[in-house]
Amino acid sequence: MSMIRYLGHSAFQVSARELECLVDPFLKGNVQSCALPEEFDNLTHIFVTHGHGDHLGDTIQLGLKTNATVVANAEICRYLAGKGLKTHPMYIGGWVGFPFGRVKFVPAVHGSGITEGKETLYGGVAVGVILELGDFRIYHAGDTGLTADMGLLQALGIDLALLPIGGRYVMDIPDALRAVEMIRPKQVIPMHFNTFPGIEADPAEFLEGLPEWVRGIRLESGQSLQF
Ligand code: NI
Ligand code: MN
Repeated sequence: MSMIRYLGHSAFQVSARELECLVDPFLKGNVQSCALPEEFDNLTHIFVTHGHGDHLGDTIQLGLKTNATVVANAEICRYLAGKGLKTHPMYIGGWVGFPFGRVKFVPAVHGSGITEGKETLYGGVAVGVILELGDFRIYHAGDTGLTADMGLLQALGIDLALLPIGGRYVMDIPDALRAVEMIRPKQVIPMHFNTFPGIEADPAEFLEGLPEWVRGIRLESGQSLQF
């Protein structure tokens, strides 16, 4: 049995055969988070969509503690390898095989700078992550505006899309609804809203705007879904 659990903001936990992972593990300082890094002892992988603090989050602490492999773009991996973490760099491109399935990075229109003290380090470009677990495909969009590239995802047969709706830094609700039309996932979960000022959005408005062929799911922080 596989499951995905929402941890608030853009953070998710995914458990599947040979996979115990977090995506964008922003836990400490995340007012929506239902978990702390201390609660995770056994992680095989951590996926990071881009270098911003609300996505890179607690990756360093979690990676050092659990020895999980961080899967991210080449620049973020180089940065994290310098901190002593185990990394698996990849980039926007083809499917990459792992013991648990396959992973593909797709475009996200967004920045990826890494804040370290007063410096902003170059963190490559932001990505979206597609996890193929058995015959189930999850698309975590990361942070992104609406982009025509999302139309390419329709051919990939996305079972579950995790889409940002908070506006300002990412898609707002009308944009996210257009993204759904382009991606045509079977199910969609809204994320990246109401965590900090400037990204206020009502997930009910997004769910009510969805066409009838897609199942919209509102996960409260801590709630999970089996697949
Ligand atoms: Ni960001
Ligand atoms: Mn963000």
